[in-house]
Amino acid sequence: MRSDLAELRMFVGGRWEEAATGDRFATVNPFTGTAWATAPVAGQGDVDRAVEAAQAALAGPWGTMSASDRGRLVYRLADLIEQNVDRLAELETKDNGKVLRETRGQVASLVATYRYFAGAADKIQGNTIPAPQTNFFTFTQRVPIGVVAAILPWNSPLYLLANKLAPALAAGCTFIAKPAEQTPATTLEIARLAQEAGIPDGVFNVITGLGDTGAKLASHPGVDKVTFTGSATTGTKVMRSAAENITAVTMELGGKSPNIVFDDAELERTLNGVVAGIYAATGQTCVAGSRLLVQSGVHDEVVERIAQRACEIHLGDPLDPATEMGPIAFPEQLEKVEHYVALGLAEGGTLVAGGRRPDDERLQHGYFFEPTVLTNITNSMRIAREEIFGPVLSVIPFDTEEEAVEIANDSEYGLAAGIWTESVHRAHRMARALRAGTIWVNAYRTLAYNVPYGGFGLSGVGRENGLDGLDEYLSTKSVWIETSGGTRDPFQIG
Ligand code: NAI
Ligand code: MG
Repeated sequence: MRSDLAELRMFVGGRWEEAATGDRFATVNPFTGTAWATAPVAGQGDVDRAVEAAQAALAGPWGTMSASDRGRLVYRLADLIEQNVDRLAELETKDNGKVLRETRGQVASLVATYRYFAGAADKIQGNTIPAPQTNFFTFTQRVPIGVVAAILPWNSPLYLLANKLAPALAAGCTFIAKPAEQTPATTLEIARLAQEAGIPDGVFNVITGLGDTGAKLASHPGVDKVTFTGSATTGTKVMRSAAENITAVTMELGGKSPNIVFDDAELERTLNGVVAGIYAATGQTCVAGSRLLVQSGVHDEVVERIAQRACEIHLGDPLDPATEMGPIAFPEQLEKVEHYVALGLAEGGTLVAGGRRPDDERLQHGYFFEPTVLTNITNSMRIAREEIFGPVLSVIPFDTEEEAVEIANDSEYGLAAGIWTESVHRAHRMARALRAGTIWVNAYRTLAYNVPYGGFGLSGVGRENGLDGLDEYLSTKSVWIETSGGTRDPFQIG
């Protein structure tokens, strides 16, 4: 490894550490195509140490702290993130190539996420229940599920961490994050801020490494909950690892979300939503509206205008505020996108925009791909069924509303859907008929810290954000207190 690279360390039990393996991997800036830092590869011993630190913190200061004190520390972390928005956003953009105009807004939005869950900490409460056995006082307690392991992807590291860390801390859990190998840097920065906020040692730990480190963490018997965002393929492996110890899971996986345009849609707004759905974040977002379903009456006009819009998108340095679309995050992902475009053409699709790496001197070192539109796609083609995770739009025509529902729901995924119509009746009918965790009407790619988010089918299990998101980190304990002092028949269930 080059000696001019920054050397990141892991954060375990409140200390900045090397991995016992002594191995390191490099993280690359996708705009320049060069490595800028290295991070340790955590092995079994490092995973064990992180789990032990998290268990000790749970049994110690964190487990005994009052909920409002816990909330106060999370508020303090939110304040520190707020003071560091620009620095964190720039670091994230450097590591994953996402345009600064998005990362800055995204990091700023995290402050609200941490504050929302900080405020929820002392509102977690159980019930008293009038059980039919009247000689009992019966109540429930909502207790932290325990040690949480979070395995994270590279597309929105800080945002996806916040959706997990903020509710887990509010619930009273301790936490081990394993950021993606492409983007370890910002998760480690949150550890620095958490320590500065006064969150006790061992409550938040970060170990770095590749998929193998993630697998060791997911299968560790000391972990009580695994929360994962990434591909369905890896999600399946993570669930299998967790199953070894009957560890609870939350899975935020991919999508092949339909963005559905009806004849009566207001087209200017619709086209904006289509662009937001597939070209924002270079299409590297789980909610990407990658299947554009267009009703026959407006099909040709929509295709012509979206192809035009695609060609006008400004590609460039993600740190430049004028840039609309940045590079793809790493070379294998770029190859995957190229592979799918070739596949779509081989399956009979027609290319009407993009389809290749840009021929531009300024962009030659980055992993750029042009905003792409393919038409003549049918829903049975692989390009319409598999997640590409890039700026590739597949246009599928339809005639009737029933047909739109059938095509939209004919997917193994069920993460999100967009509906574009001026008819309020149709909007409600469609929202009811579609099988997706998030449905937007005349909008796309809008999310908030207090609105539950998650998927059906291969898109995942469980929800993030809102009080549903907090529930994922809690378990219920029922307590029965006998009040009569009497005895009972020991051979009957009471
Ligand atoms: P991935 O899902 O393989 O990786 C996500 C995380 O899982 C990383 O931290 C990785 O180190 C870890 N991991 C890998 N193998 C593991 C294992 N066996 N056990 C435990 N942890 C493991 O995603 P990857 O390889 O970066 O991207 C592949 C595809 O996944 C993309 O092309 C895209 O289609 C999809 N993807 C979807 C995301 C979404 O939010 N829906 C996010 C990132 C990727
Ligand atoms: Mg990187």
